[in-house]
Amino acid sequence: MNSSINITKGNLKPSERIFVALDTPDIDRALSLAQSLKGLVGGLKLGKEFFTSCGPEGAKRITALGMPIFLDLKYHDIPNTVAGAVRSALGLNPFMLNVHASGGRAMMEAAAKAADEAGPNRPLVIAVTVLTSMNKNDLAEVGINVEPIEHVMRLARLAKESGLDGVVCSAKEVVALRGNVGPDFKLVVPGIRPDWASKDDQKRVVTPSDAIDLGADYLVIGRPITASDNPGEAARRIAGELSDE
Ligand code: C5P
Repeated sequence: MNSSINITKGNLKPSERIFVALDTPDIDRALSLAQSLKGLVGGLKLGKEFFTSCGPEGAKRITALGMPIFLDLKYHDIPNTVAGAVRSALGLNPFMLNVHASGGRAMMEAAAKAADEAGPNRPLVIAVTVLTSMNKNDLAEVGINVEPIEHVMRLARLAKESGLDGVVCSAKEVVALRGNVGPDFKLVVPGIRPDWASKDDQKRVVTPSDAIDLGADYLVIGRPITASDNPGEAARRIAGELSDE
């Protein structure tokens, strides 16, 4: 089945599919970015840089602003430890959190089961497949001698079989993934760059509107918005490009 054209886009406006990566160690900067983005995007992504510096208390100050949170801590450990981490994360009431698919089936099953304990507030549990900063050579250096797409596909199928809700993937993988994992499996896409933004260290990038057209459910966008002199304006510009579809 290739459902890339007719995916379940739900009732979300395109701008509501954007999660802005607040990759900063500074709580005041994160709060000010979050405030300037409120109402312009779907949510905020808090990752390791923010969380290691600002901790759960910092995360609670961001969630208090009322925007959905993607807790991007990419758990990867033995199943019991990942289940415990997911349980701890539930206290932050995230909309979405993630684990590394390369942690394997038992680890992902444990993560999904722990998330179930949140009942109706269960976050989406998403797997990271292959980081978008890695190309074929980078994979080969860690002993994986296949095309990135082949490895992504294998890990995505395993994530689905393990009860997860979706994967983080490159936009260039979205069409192939849809054909393999069906219309309801969430595809969360970083490595997004508007034409007018720098690629920074990302190697496999697409524009926001191409990502949506391909069938991404959520777009993770960091520096094109957060490194802009006017983050709110950059978010508006991207949202405007998306609604011109
Ligand atoms: O600034 P930029 O738009 O490149 O930020 C992308 C964000 O998405 C970063 O927080 C990065 O950690 C995250 N990410 C990624 N590739 C993945 C998974 C997450 O770039 N495969």
